[in-house]
Amino acid sequence: MNFLMIFLITYLIGSSTEFTITEIDEPLIYIKIHPNEHKTINLEDARDAILQSYNNSRGCEISPMQVKFETQEFRIIQEQDFTDQDFESDTILNFRQFVSMVHIKDGMLAITSDSIAYLLKFNYETVYEHDFEETGQQFARILWRADLQTIAPTLIAKNELPQLLYSPSSNLAFLLFSDSAQLFSMDQMESQATSLDVYQVTDWRKRGYRGLTKEIDGLVFSAVGRDGLDVYKIVQKDLRFIKNLKLRDFGLNSSIEIVDFAIIQHGKKVDYYSMFLLDRELGLLLIDIHKDLYVNFGMRSWINYESGGISVDTRNGRNVFMAYQQMNHYFVLEYNVDIDNGNSFLIRKKKIDHRIIDLDATEDFVIVQGVNQHLILFSNGYDFVMNNHKDQVFKHLGLRDFAFFNQTYKLEDMENIEQQYDDFFFGITAQSAFLTRFQVEPIKMKCFYHNDEVGQSYRYLLSYNTTVEGIQDLVIRHEKMVIVEIIKTYLYEAEYYLLYAIAFLLGSVFLMGLGYVGYWFYSNQKEHQILVEQIEKTAREKGIKQVNGSTAFKGDETSVFQQQNKSIMP
Ligand SMILES: *[C@@H]1O[C@H](CO)[C@@H](O)[C@H](O)[C@H]1NC(C)=O
Ligand SMILES: *[C@@H]1O[C@H](CO)[C@@H](O)[C@H](O)[C@H]1NC(C)=O
Ligand SMILES: *[C@@H]1O[C@H](CO)[C@@H](O)[C@H](O)[C@H]1NC(C)=O
Ligand SMILES: *[C@@H]1O[C@H](CO)[C@@H](O)[C@H](O)[C@H]1NC(C)=O
Repeated sequence: MNFLMIFLITYLIGSSTEFTITEIDEPLIYIKIHPNEHKTINLEDARDAILQSYNNSRGCEISPMQVKFETQEFRIIQEQDFTDQDFESDTILNFRQFVSMVHIKDGMLAITSDSIAYLLKFNYETVYEHDFEETGQQFARILWRADLQTIAPTLIAKNELPQLLYSPSSNLAFLLFSDSAQLFSMDQMESQATSLDVYQVTDWRKRGYRGLTKEIDGLVFSAVGRDGLDVYKIVQKDLRFIKNLKLRDFGLNSSIEIVDFAIIQHGKKVDYYSMFLLDRELGLLLIDIHKDLYVNFGMRSWINYESGGISVDTRNGRNVFMAYQQMNHYFVLEYNVDIDNGNSFLIRKKKIDHRIIDLDATEDFVIVQGVNQHLILFSNGYDFVMNNHKDQVFKHLGLRDFAFFNQTYKLEDMENIEQQYDDFFFGITAQSAFLTRFQVEPIKMKCFYHNDEVGQSYRYLLSYNTTVEGIQDLVIRHEKMVIVEIIKTYLYEAEYYLLYAIAFLLGSVFLMGLGYVGYWFYSNQKEHQILVEQIEKTAREKGIKQVNGSTAFKGDETSVFQQQNKSIMP
């Protein structure tokens, strides 16, 4: 019998957004469980769940939604890479350690504090088929190493860390400082040439501050603090300065300080983009960008007025995360934004206990990067439907910089490699490169009972909230009665099937055998007499000879050789 009871409750968040919570009483579920057996039920779309026991039993519990991580790390900068002189000098920047990296086609480019650039290429076989438990396998190899000290002497002199930027359309890499920029061709690096041609960007604007710099479709956007936002265009092997955007251009009369932005393509429209622009004083703005002969900006809406902005990020353009600081407190806000009409509403405000360096969003969650401690906040987590959810803290000691793995960078001839559920991010610590595989695990109900509880049954009330993808304002609250009975048997369900199969097979063999014997008996009855007489006769004449033959097959053993590539640095 299936019956549903549905109640509608309408909530109002903020001043404008109406929210409907649909309550559904679902039919009960009956679970039979054997003692010492682990049983897990996935609550696929649940954002939050609670399980109440009528019997004060702790046999079944809810395990929260979480991201599971597995990390492989390999050390690149070895002790022998240091000279005595390195140890004597005491500036951090002079010391050889990774400071910045960028995701390039099939790998990454990383740079150390003393301007040594490392080109790492993925070993895709290892990345995709890697057993993360196994050690000694490397997800990437060093293809090339270049000393860029001659082109980046400013590093130590200016006490500034460079930013690396990569343009997939032109396969160019950029080394960016606040007052200078160089570029070189990745093709040349990849061909492991003996020398590298480095071009100076002549049109590069000197700025006192340089925040995030990002490339999209041949345009380079650079957040430059009080100077606003610079826009460049990639023209052959150079950058041409196109535009400087100030908030004045939108009629906003205020001092500005643009610290970060996130840019995404606007739906399927070519040359239209949406930018989330974060100003330290003004807060978060949604900007439309249209690229034709020129690059045009238009203000769409003002999402947030909070000052102290640190970082903004979005992957899908709908769940937009913003981090800011007020006094000594750090906060992350999550907005639900409709980029078509500019409407937005706050779905979450979260106080963070540690300093926030950066935000990095995926479809499902955002990583709030701290110094050593990082936090996972799930997207779409309407605060008020996730009352029982605890955010996941994870540590990645010494994480310096990382990027999410972009599969479209994959080599064409690698397309047949199947990659179904896994997602990755990779990056650098001071001396190592790492690859982390992550997987979002849904909320689960897990049950386990001991022998002494055989014959008992326990009652639970399971309630959980789900949100509906695509429908912003619908939340469903499910209620389900769960009865768990501990059955007295030591066979598990899977083994039952095996047992049934074996019994069926044996039964069939027995019946067939019986039939055959009956048939044989019947058809041989007549000849029986003659046979007996013949045997008696033959036996008297000669003895019975028996021949035995046997062939022994020896398993053919195939040896599997594993090849390991060692890279040689120039
Ligand atoms: C802009 O602000 C400045 C100082 O706050 C003020 O002097 C000026 O009149 C304002 N201009 C406009 C157009 O509002
Ligand atoms: C679901 O949402 C409701 C309404 O906001 C809330 O009271 C409840 O704590 C949430 N969680 C569960 C598991 O019901
Ligand atoms: C991955 O790379 C492609 C090709 O450059 C780009 O269009 C796409 O936006 C990237 N995706 C992400 C999630 O960064
Ligand atoms: C648990 O509670 C249910 C209903 O209240 C009852 O039928 C059942 O016998 C109880 N089980 C145990 C082990 O006490």
